[in-house]
Amino acid sequence: MLFGGKKILALDIGTSSIKLAELDSSRKGWVLKKFSVVSVNPGWIRDGEIVDPTSVSQAIVTLVQSARSKRKNVASALFGNGVIVKRISMAPIEENLISEAVKWEAEQYIPFDINEASIDHHVLRGHTRSVGENLDILLIGAKQEYVYRFIETIESAGLKCAIIDVSGFALANCFEANYGQLEGVTALLNIGAGITNLVIVEKGDVIFSRDSTVGGNTYTNELHKAMGVSLQEAESLKISASAGHEVPAEVNAVLASTTEQVVDEIRTAIEFFVATGGGGRINKMYVTGGSMFIPSLLEEISKAVGVPFEVLNPFQQVGYDAKALTPDYIQQIQSICPVALGLAMRDMKE
Ligand SMILES: Nc1ncnc2c1ncn2[C@@H]1O[C@H](COP(=O)(O)OP(=O)(O)OP(=O)(O)O)[C@@H](O)[C@H]1O
Ligand SMILES: [Mg+2]
Repeated sequence: MLFGGKKILALDIGTSSIKLAELDSSRKGWVLKKFSVVSVNPGWIRDGEIVDPTSVSQAIVTLVQSARSKRKNVASALFGNGVIVKRISMAPIEENLISEAVKWEAEQYIPFDINEASIDHHVLRGHTRSVGENLDILLIGAKQEYVYRFIETIESAGLKCAIIDVSGFALANCFEANYGQLEGVTALLNIGAGITNLVIVEKGDVIFSRDSTVGGNTYTNELHKAMGVSLQEAESLKISASAGHEVPAEVNAVLASTTEQVVDEIRTAIEFFVATGGGGRINKMYVTGGSMFIPSLLEEISKAVGVPFEVLNPFQQVGYDAKALTPDYIQQIQSICPVALGLAMRDMKE
């Protein structure tokens, strides 16, 4: 189609908000043209499952209208409990037989009914050293029902679902566009509202991806329970405390004890990678997500896992359209945009 009709509209459908992003490629690289956010009510999306497709679809319509987006081909990403990513090793076989072989192998790794799962795979080229050696494969299984719900939700908003990705992969895509391929093993951590994505990359490949069900909502819920305030009040107390404003001492105490719980979950996920990943030591951790601002959370994670961290800058290499977006806005969205940016890059890489 002429005039960019095939360009991708990225929709990161998150637990607390949906992010829309449009990128263009120029001689200088990626340029962000549009970025918009619409809130999602608690309960519409839970652990990566779209529980209320009608409301989510309506929110998408509002978002697309407010962004004045003309693009129709959506890239979106699954996350949470409905997706499983597992690195497997397979005897070498011909390229055209891999898909079928992966399906056979998948059954033992997928924690839900294989007949109700969508299976995909990715050959880890950088990790299969020579001809005749076992193939290193990343197996991706998703609950079909979740996939259908995503498609149905996007298409009811009048859009076309062109790409369904996995949020951890989109995050890695955004990371690589900004930092290239680093030496050794690197961890990416996206601490959102409902989940935290942990993604491990090595030699340009994702070698591990796992979502833990902890994030900003864990804090909000704990404050709500401990202090007997509404979820909304709990949310604003959390944001105030994170901004360093004065709050009742109990708020800081609850945040600190919740951090212990969140750090435990993340440490368990990292230890699981170390025990099963067969990879080397993690050199560094790049952190993003709206909940990275919880006081001392990043320091605590770093201390618990013994890996230094840096805040992921999604605009290290990606530029933005200064006519449409201000530096202040770019600063504001920095921690919530990486998955949407990684999705928006999908078509143009091919
Ligand atoms: N300044 C802040 N301080 C503390 N927490 C914040 C701040 N700003 C946003 N958050 C929290 O970040 C979360 C939203 O982040 P993000 O947009 O990355 O999540 P999401 O994509 O909606 O959720 P998920 O990725 O888990 O599905 C919310 O829990 C929100 O309370
Ligand atoms: Mg998110």
